[in-house]
Amino acid sequence: MTDTTGLLDVMIEAARAAGAGLVEDSARIAELQVRTKAGPADMVSIADERAEETVRSILAAAQPDFAFLGEEGGHSGDAEGPTWIVDPLDGTTNFLVGTPLFGVNIALARGNEVLAGVTYLPAMGELFSAERGKGAFLNGRPIRVSQRETLGQAVLGCGIPFATKPDHDLFVSEMDVLSERVSGIRRTGSAAMDLAYVAAGRWDAYWEQNLQAWDMAAGVCLITEAGGLVTAADGRPLDLHGLTICASNPFIQRALLDALAEADQPARRKAARWT
Ligand code: IPD
Ligand code: CA
Ligand code: CA
Repeated sequence: MTDTTGLLDVMIEAARAAGAGLVEDSARIAELQVRTKAGPADMVSIADERAEETVRSILAAAQPDFAFLGEEGGHSGDAEGPTWIVDPLDGTTNFLVGTPLFGVNIALARGNEVLAGVTYLPAMGELFSAERGKGAFLNGRPIRVSQRETLGQAVLGCGIPFATKPDHDLFVSEMDVLSERVSGIRRTGSAAMDLAYVAAGRWDAYWEQNLQAWDMAAGVCLITEAGGLVTAADGRPLDLHGLTICASNPFIQRALLDALAEADQPARRKAARWT
């Protein structure tokens, strides 16, 4: 058992500190050093690195023994024990083009189990937080997933693969299957924000086929604590390191998973590639 007493407050403090730095940095984007990682569409800036250092130092001061997995600095510490999982700037592309849809994601996990999560959207003034068994909150007020009961009523968030990501034909096939069955599909460019929106009942569901643990861990806690369901995109139990996620309110989960499975048929994917 990991005692999380008091740790949510530290996570909130770290997210607010990093978020304040990001807002300052966003006022002078042109001066920030930017370099690419996996390819031209995968950028990282000095703002990402500074934010991760801010989060890391605050969390380490509170709990020096916990392991740390950060998008920019990688993994350190005992992977079997409690681990901070951090995306210091989710929505980097938005941030670098001056769009205020970005956030700080901090989770505390043990193995595959997320014990607490914080998603802070500093430009929106919205802080989402949850602790296992204690509910989910937006700026301190309780939140719940939506009550919309059919895919036809649903507004979905999603991630679209870009230049460095695989499975473009699968995404085209998913759009082909889903777009005519739902009320709307949104792509914000911040998975952290999308998952928090599912927890708050703004989106009815979210899926993505290539997502890292630091993108999803905080949202997993927010959504389950807000009454939602989270699995891998093929319906299997969620693996934080398994790269796929389907998160939804309980009513539409089955229909959404069935639609995603339908889209993943080889014949459909082939057709999507050639049309
Ligand atoms: C990205 C965003 C985006 C999602 C990508 C992530 P980053 O994270 O969350 O919405 O679709 O898969 O890589 O690079 O902005 O931290
Ligand atoms: Ca991210
Ligand atoms: Ca990031």
